[in-house]
Amino acid sequence: MKDIRQITTEALKKVKDSDALTLESIKAEYLGKDGVLTQILKSLSSYSIEDKKRIGSEANNAKSIIVAEIKNKKESLKKFLFNEKMRNEKFDYSESFYFPFSKGSFHPVIQMINDITAVFKSLGFSVAEGPEVETDWYNFEALNIPDSHPARDMQNTFYVEGMKALLRTHTSPGQIRAMEKHKPPIKVIVPGKVYRNEASDAMHFSTFHQVEGLAVDENITFVDLMTLLSDFVHKLFGSDTNIRFRPSHFQFTEPSAEVDMQCIFCKGKGRCRLCKSSSWIEILGCGMVHPNVLKAVHYDSRKYTGYAFGLGVERLTMFKYGIDDIRLFYENDLRFLKQF
Ligand code: PHE
Repeated sequence: MKDIRQITTEALKKVKDSDALTLESIKAEYLGKDGVLTQILKSLSSYSIEDKKRIGSEANNAKSIIVAEIKNKKESLKKFLFNEKMRNEKFDYSESFYFPFSKGSFHPVIQMINDITAVFKSLGFSVAEGPEVETDWYNFEALNIPDSHPARDMQNTFYVEGMKALLRTHTSPGQIRAMEKHKPPIKVIVPGKVYRNEASDAMHFSTFHQVEGLAVDENITFVDLMTLLSDFVHKLFGSDTNIRFRPSHFQFTEPSAEVDMQCIFCKGKGRCRLCKSSSWIEILGCGMVHPNVLKAVHYDSRKYTGYAFGLGVERLTMFKYGIDDIRLFYENDLRFLKQF
């Protein structure tokens, strides 16, 4: 009988020099049914008890060493073959293949934000973003809405317990953040998500989107605001779409107005499901920046004036596509979303 140590050395050398094809036959040669080590283990019964013990343990030892080495070799061969494949593989850009998933699309509200942003960019505005979790200061105080002012009732929200933090009720805190960062002249829009604690119906939901706008410089007047908003609506909905200003009140603008846009479906002819035959649809709030707001960010309110506006994105999107329930935007029903 061959020396087990010799057998082991020989087997390990063969394993070392093997390739993917020969590795299996080496395994069979030593460990298979008629393998060298298997034979030795089978013949143990013919030895004395002492030899049985010694040879048995040596053979089992050799077996596990060889098994481990075969395993290692397999791993390194796998790695080698993979690297080799990567080295030789060429990507054929001209090859067409079947992609089993259909292409997604932007959510209609995001599409609308992108369209609105593109129009304001073309009118010289830059784009900024602000946090959705705001402090009381940015959402209310700096906007001339002091603690316990009745104007807060209109914008009840979700508060973070124990902190003066809340989910922003409008994008107007973006005005304050923009003015803190930059000196006038300033022309910026701030699109984003806002939250209100209110019961939902076809026109209201606790989460929606706004696009805030702000311009501050010397000699800015209400006429600049009117011109800008009518340019905006013309660019987005066509030059035959009229807008109108209605007096309103916001704590952070003076004077303030709400803007309605003529119904693009009935063009003011009435008997319309979308505008409920009123011919006009409210799209935003706006006004001249209140001097107290300018003071809050340490702007010289005698030198500078400005205008601000806040657009409701869902409203415009519903209007554009004739959607009559805001809740459809948030149900994630693919039958609805695939239409855009
Ligand atoms: N923040 C106001 C709202 O959400 C809209 C607004 C913005 C009004 C800017 C005036 C100026 O109702």
